[in-house]
Amino acid sequence: MKTYNIPKLEKKLRKELDPERYRHSLAVMYTGAALAMRHGADLHRTQVAGLLHDCAKCIPNDKKIRLCEKYGIEVTRTEKENPFLLHSKLGAWMAKEKYGVDDEEILGAIAWHTTGRPGMTLMEEIIFLADYIEPMRQKAQNLDVIRKQAFIDLDRAVMMTLRDTLQYLKSGDSELDENTELSYYYYSELCDHKSAPKSKSAPAETEIAGAPAPVH
Ligand SMILES: [Fe+2]
Ligand SMILES: [Fe+2]
Repeated sequence: MKTYNIPKLEKKLRKELDPERYRHSLAVMYTGAALAMRHGADLHRTQVAGLLHDCAKCIPNDKKIRLCEKYGIEVTRTEKENPFLLHSKLGAWMAKEKYGVDDEEILGAIAWHTTGRPGMTLMEEIIFLADYIEPMRQKAQNLDVIRKQAFIDLDRAVMMTLRDTLQYLKSGDSELDENTELSYYYYSELCDHKSAPKSKSAPAETEIAGAPAPVH
């Protein structure tokens, strides 16, 4: 399996991002590494995905659209109206073309880190969560609960993150990307199925303390 030169990738990335985004990228890399250790994902490749997940974030929005059109990357109506969403897809393209990453799972983790998708791979789930819970994130609700859950049950932590993201988006003017909704329904059902009692007499698996009830 290919080994990537992480210090070299860091040096290149540092020139493309503002200092705050670069620090966030390092934080996602190390948080992703911790989750990979806990859940048995490939440590090296997960770090590469975490480091590069926002590599297209600092490109101006109009240029994001132009680049997607130029390189044949599909732009949905929601993405056209909210071009920041494109940094994921465009980031996967840049990771491949500009950073020499040819690993489909790493590229998938970059492509889906903002919205998630139903049935994410282990690495995709880890990067999706690491982006949400890295230590410099402070604003989202339930962060302490989700941070803890990420080291207990990854699927449930993903479901909680999607639930809170949808709640946040619905409370403001932001348009929902349908992948976020589809992902939430998928993970919500998966977690319901996991926690369903085995028989009428068996007690249901309890939610962790302090976790708010899912919104259906
Ligand atoms: Fe991002
Ligand atoms: Fe990010």
